[in-house]
Amino acid sequence: MEKTLKFAVFGAGFWANYQISAWKQVGGVELLAICDPDEEKAKKMAEKHGIPNVYRDAGTLFKQEKLDFVDIISSIPSHAPLVMAAAKAGVHVICQKPMAEDYKTCQAMVKACEDAGVKYFIHENFRFQTPIRKCKQLMEQGEIGNPFKARLTFCSGFPVFDNQPALAELDRFIIMDLGVHILDMSRYLFGDVEKLYCQTQKINPSIKGEDVATTLLSMKSGVNCLVEVSYASQLEQETFPQTLMLLEGDKGSIRLDYNHHITVTRKGKGSEKIQADPPQYDWADPDYALIHSSVVTCNQSILDDLQDKAAAENSGQDNLKTMELVFLSYKSSETNKVLYTT
Ligand SMILES: NC(=O)c1ccc[n+]([C@@H]2O[C@H](COP(=O)([O-])OP(=O)(O)OC[C@H]3O[C@@H](n4cnc5c(N)ncnc54)[C@H](O)[C@@H]3O)[C@@H](O)[C@H]2O)c1
Repeated sequence: MEKTLKFAVFGAGFWANYQISAWKQVGGVELLAICDPDEEKAKKMAEKHGIPNVYRDAGTLFKQEKLDFVDIISSIPSHAPLVMAAAKAGVHVICQKPMAEDYKTCQAMVKACEDAGVKYFIHENFRFQTPIRKCKQLMEQGEIGNPFKARLTFCSGFPVFDNQPALAELDRFIIMDLGVHILDMSRYLFGDVEKLYCQTQKINPSIKGEDVATTLLSMKSGVNCLVEVSYASQLEQETFPQTLMLLEGDKGSIRLDYNHHITVTRKGKGSEKIQADPPQYDWADPDYALIHSSVVTCNQSILDDLQDKAAAENSGQDNLKTMELVFLSYKSSETNKVLYTT
């Protein structure tokens, strides 16, 4: 019998509700406590999910609870202090994307966990989406030969601020919140990035940050990958929260369209249609079902690592490469320059 791992959650906002439901789906863990400075929110979440203990400050929680790991699902500025506190308390850490607001802080978070000898994961779930996994599998099977060019598109007019009003207040919005996922996806598909060029735009006048970003990544493998993210797009078909893709190789192409339709075209052999629907869960919000199913697989991979069964893809160390792309994208847009990764 596998040992049940005991954990606590930080943050009782919009996303914690689904993350906790996904943990229940995975099983093998026991949620002992939830902490949020907004105690009313924490109490409500505890009631909804049957969490025994509620805290409003991390210090007291770490003193009183005996934990195997923590899951940090709180506002971005709190990620770094909470990761540091968990490392100090000697418990393994999962932290939501984006890791932190600047690269130096991200590096310090990774180092603090390494020094403390605790495992550190970033909860980067988009790469776990069923259709994305399927496209990568098809590429790895050699269906399109050597990839040379790709387009990854998440362009939407979904009213994202209705569920997450805090996003409208971020000085840096779409690359930090959404681009981080798609940039990570490009690394998942094609490996390390050599250089990038990015342009950002602010179309919605009632938010603080940018809501459109177009980034051209030159991968070390030679693939050129265009990443487009927008929450200002008024399109014939609203596709939230799906990433659409076109992956081209010297022997064919893979197109991922709306509603998880994949078309594989092989040189001289015509096209094949493949359906890559994600699993459905009754606790998932229908608007976010694709993402919510990827939270389950992401949690499972982290749990496998915590149980020493298999290394998770999403280590803090690995995610530094994604965060570097986030910060380089902002700098490229500000300076209008092509920038190289370290
Ligand atoms: N992976 C995904 O697909 C996905 C989707 C949505 C949000 N997220 C991430 O989840 C995190 C939370 O987002 P949200 O939409 O739930 O935000 P939210 O604003 O709804 O909730 C954040 C909560 O964190 C709490 N908080 C602030 N400081 C804290 C601290 N020191 N300790 C404990 N709690 C603290 C706030 O009081 C608030 O209740 C963010 O990092 C966000 O990027 C991920």
